[in-house]
Amino acid sequence: MKKLIGSRKFHLLKTSVFISGSGSNLKNLIKFSLTKKSPIKIILVVSSNSKAKGLNLAKKYKIKYKVYDFKKKIKDENKILISLKKDKIDLICLAGFMKILSKKFIKKFNGKILNIHPSLLPKYKGLNTHLRAINNNEKFSGCTVHFVNSKLDSGKIILQKKVKIHKKDTPRILAKKILKEEHILYPKALIKVFSSL
Ligand code: GRF
Repeated sequence: MKKLIGSRKFHLLKTSVFISGSGSNLKNLIKFSLTKKSPIKIILVVSSNSKAKGLNLAKKYKIKYKVYDFKKKIKDENKILISLKKDKIDLICLAGFMKILSKKFIKKFNGKILNIHPSLLPKYKGLNTHLRAINNNEKFSGCTVHFVNSKLDSGKIILQKKVKIHKKDTPRILAKKILKEEHILYPKALIKVFSSL
């Protein structure tokens, strides 16, 4: 897929977005992908949850989607790999995807999987980041876009955004503030890494 920017043609990266829940990052990435600045085109949405609200977005924007419950993880991952190959997917964006991909899967897509995490990594890897940050009396938290490697939330950091934690912030309020920043950060990170390709 070629796109004309200025007088230069470049290829849009065929992208699959993996989700599990509400899909606000997916929505944001879809909108971004329709802008001139975007180096990606979203071809496939993969969800680990058949009830994920994000699937409605795939339907709305007529993007192909597939659901795998990951009960048989390796089997599902193999099916996903076949699907990604069939659609010639160049890049995977994890966006609120709540499953941990196997080392084998990650190796097959080495350097081509990005994730967004709601903390200032390397702090607060894993779940319940907001609660842990508040309980530790942190003054700041934030979000991070990073490459995915075989260790959870440990791949090379692309971009981060700091968010101030106010005394009155509950995990819910903080999550909301950070999510807003996530929506700015993910497109920025994609531009940073891929726009020069
Ligand atoms: C985001 O905060 C993301 O960083 C985290 O889960 C949340 C998903 O939100 N991993 P959404 O599904 O994109 O709305």
